[in-house]
Amino acid sequence: MDLLTLIVWVVIIFNVVAIVMILLGDADIILQIKEKFGKSVKCLAGQVVWITGASSGIGEELAYELARAGCRLVLSARRTNELERVKKECMLRGSIKEEDILVLKLDSIDFTSHKTAVDKVFKHFKHIDILVNNAGRSQRAMWLKTSLQVDRDMLELNVLGVLSLSKLVLPYMEKRGSGHIVNISSVAGKLGAPMSGSYTGAKHAVQGWFDALRVEIGDKNIHVTNVCPGPVFSNILAVAFTEKEGEEFKGEMNPNEKRMKTDRCAYLIGVAIANKMWEVWITKNPVLFLCYANQYTPNLSKWISGKLGLKAIQKLREGQH
Ligand SMILES: NC(=O)c1ccc[n+]([C@@H]2O[C@H](COP(=O)([O-])OP(=O)(O)OC[C@H]3O[C@@H](n4cnc5c(N)ncnc54)[C@H](OP(=O)(O)O)[C@@H]3O)[C@@H](O)[C@H]2O)c1
Repeated sequence: MDLLTLIVWVVIIFNVVAIVMILLGDADIILQIKEKFGKSVKCLAGQVVWITGASSGIGEELAYELARAGCRLVLSARRTNELERVKKECMLRGSIKEEDILVLKLDSIDFTSHKTAVDKVFKHFKHIDILVNNAGRSQRAMWLKTSLQVDRDMLELNVLGVLSLSKLVLPYMEKRGSGHIVNISSVAGKLGAPMSGSYTGAKHAVQGWFDALRVEIGDKNIHVTNVCPGPVFSNILAVAFTEKEGEEFKGEMNPNEKRMKTDRCAYLIGVAIANKMWEVWITKNPVLFLCYANQYTPNLSKWISGKLGLKAIQKLREGQH
């Protein structure tokens, strides 16, 4: 066999393996490889991790995952009764001491309160290793009917809240010479998600903002991970924004829908954090395939989306295909 034939075979085999991994996997190829051969979540033992939006859904399950790994935790959200419940469960599942978990009430859009919150964390733990910006709300609304106030509210919560906290925590990380910011973005931060115009815009914004930061702080031992989950079981539909200011969607998830289980999503986020990955996609198919199509053949993926139409894409998104 000559060299050219060998190269052609290597390329063919590489592509076949990649396509099989995409079709059978529930995360991007690199994350699948890291899950099998990379660092385990346990390597985060002892680290101080601040999780916003820890009172339900992905944030709650991530707290359990990191408690099992032996992390020290700051749990934030608005509902402190729910945070206390999560704290108790963390102590049971992770057998960590009470003083290793700080429940800290935080409203992401009350920017003036963030400095006090950061001070409380530093008073308790002396430093922060990892900040997980997870708090957020989704949306179900038609683009044209969405009021400008909803666009504004979405940006305040899903973008400015993230920036406000990160800007307060980062200088400490810089001074210490280490740190890690993790943003729970969404597949909607990569693709246009119908009936979620403001949400799509907000998640794209977070990705852009932090991709720029990653380059600026690349030499400072501070890491940035953007996590893009697809449909995952959580409380997100109940409290999603609609087109009207102040309204909640009050949607329910059916257990038969093809969404990812919350604990699986949290585990994969743990793997991404442990391996300090830059960007990860965590989703079942066909959404994972669409992510790859969008990344490598953007025009083809937009053509496919157009042909499928709003109803079909929305079904994929709600795991009802
Ligand atoms: N589930 C999915 O399919 C999916 C897919 C892609 C991305 N995501 C992202 O994952 C993240 C977590 O969502 P989830 O699915 O776990 O939804 P969830 O169950 O509704 O959890 C959202 C969390 O955010 C908190 N939160 C909401 N508004 C807040 C505010 N103003 N201040 C502080 N905390 C606030 C909530 O706590 P309180 O109400 O107690 O404040 C709750 O703990 C979000 O950023 C979401 O965009 C979810």
